Amino acid sequence: MAATEQRLSTTVLVIGTGGAGLRASVELAEAGVDVLAVGKRPKDDAHTSLAAGGINAALATMDPEDTWQQHAADTLKESYLLGDPRTTEIVTRGAARGIDDLERYGMAFAREHDGRISQRFFGAHTFRRTAFAGDYTGLEIQRTLVRRAEQLRVPVLEGVYITRILTHEGAVFGAYGFDLKDGTRYRVHADAVILAAGGHTRIWRRTSSRRDENTGDSFRLAVEAGARLRDPELVQFHPSGIIEPENAAGTLVSEAARGEGGILRNALGERYMSRYDPERMELSTRDRVALASYTEIKEGRGTENGGVWLDVSHLPRQTIMDRLPRVYQTLLDLQMLDITRDPVEVAPTAHYSMGGVWVRPEDHSTDVRGLYAIGEASSGLHGANRLGGNSLIELLVYGRITGRAAAAYSESLTAQPRSAGAVAEARAEVDELLAADGPENVRALQRAVRNTMTEHAGVVRDEEGLRTGLAELAVIEKRMEDVGVHPDIAGFQDLAHAFDLKAAVLAARATLEAALERRETRGCHNRSDHPDMKEELRVNLVWSPATGITRESIPPVPEEIASLMEEVPTDGKLQE
Ligand code: FUM
Repeated sequence: MAATEQRLSTTVLVIGTGGAGLRASVELAEAGVDVLAVGKRPKDDAHTSLAAGGINAALATMDPEDTWQQHAADTLKESYLLGDPRTTEIVTRGAARGIDDLERYGMAFAREHDGRISQRFFGAHTFRRTAFAGDYTGLEIQRTLVRRAEQLRVPVLEGVYITRILTHEGAVFGAYGFDLKDGTRYRVHADAVILAAGGHTRIWRRTSSRRDENTGDSFRLAVEAGARLRDPELVQFHPSGIIEPENAAGTLVSEAARGEGGILRNALGERYMSRYDPERMELSTRDRVALASYTEIKEGRGTENGGVWLDVSHLPRQTIMDRLPRVYQTLLDLQMLDITRDPVEVAPTAHYSMGGVWVRPEDHSTDVRGLYAIGEASSGLHGANRLGGNSLIELLVYGRITGRAAAAYSESLTAQPRSAGAVAEARAEVDELLAADGPENVRALQRAVRNTMTEHAGVVRDEEGLRTGLAELAVIEKRMEDVGVHPDIAGFQDLAHAFDLKAAVLAARATLEAALERRETRGCHNRSDHPDMKEELRVNLVWSPATGITRESIPPVPEEIASLMEEVPTDGKLQE
């Protein structure tokens, strides 16, 4: 055994310290259940802190006609009928409670003069139902949850990279990992594990995720533990990522910019959304706006740098300062550009994994006993197009539900078998990588994955490109046999990158295989060789390395919600 292996034990282990992981941890701690949260990033800087424009709940503070049923109808309609109606009902019904919880923990929402929580329009919502804190909503939520977790003395282990979920005969008994600074190994025993380690959008070149986040860790950890993925091909490309500088390409310009009245123009000065969705214009759904921008750029009406213009300079300066402070600061910091005067050059950016680990709607349990997944790691709500602001509310609702479910699961155990063999395998995996001294560089291979996904699995896909992507991936997998891993005096980042690479490759394979199988155009998934939506593909695609892809049917939408859904229009979609 390595001399530096720490052994810890807890009732529920939470992997990931963003909003989802912290909300679940808070629920457990409030119920008096022993919990340990582990994250690879500092908790103050988890990816949730980047979420910008808002969080949805039918509070009806601005539009009294709004209801949870209408929120559910909008969500399901814009999921192109791939969202699970049970998950959608749970989230939209529970949304007001999620906001109450945040208020109870002291979250500072933007308010109207009379004290009501302000709510703004986000794309494709029937009413104003997006609550916010400037365009720092995720940061405020993260701070609020960190504060609450501290009040409850939730232990949080920061800078620890989890390499494996430990299982024995289909049930979890903990996880294995290492400290990113000094390489100390951790073996954590737990009755239940909640996986809240994000999605896989960092495997594209232009992405709103930073370097070491959303690298597909959740997908790999879950799949290697015996779980499956649902709809990994359904990835949301947000219409407005910045283009320059190269090392920050994809950084988000919040949808709040369009929500507040921002306008999109091509290089000819045309307000092109009038051709794609004349009614909703810039507040159309994300898949349509992203496809519209992609088309403008592809057909030669984009800017020299391959973008379009997003302009808020006609808005009152005070509106920008109050409601878009992060966009204002980000553009000054990265480009020395003042958005109160000049438009921003933007292009679609990989933003959100709408698919993820297969979970049950009622409690987000997985195929593995005692393993749960929440937040961007999970699946079920968003289908083929996520409404902006729905992910933050989802993590609050399911953080609470899953925390309770994991506690109940632990309570139900009378004994927990462990496996020395599983621990030995986890340990050997780290040992082997540390001993690897081949000529292939893990960062260069990560870059190769990102190039492949960008070339062949972007906004628009086709059979030939996806097959080429799979062939390229096979070459990368072969090259991975010869990697060299070199932790140095600064820490064990290179080992983390090697695990990130394994995760990226698994996530890329799942995405490409499912994208190939989905021979239709639906929401974010545009197949130029199959431009129609197909009734027989109104199913979820469930993937695992052992089974390949299987089709899963989706339950019918309850009448009280279905009656509020207008027909899904095809404007702005690929046309034959
Ligand atoms: O554009 C945005 O502010 C992003 C919000 C979201 O993805 O929910």
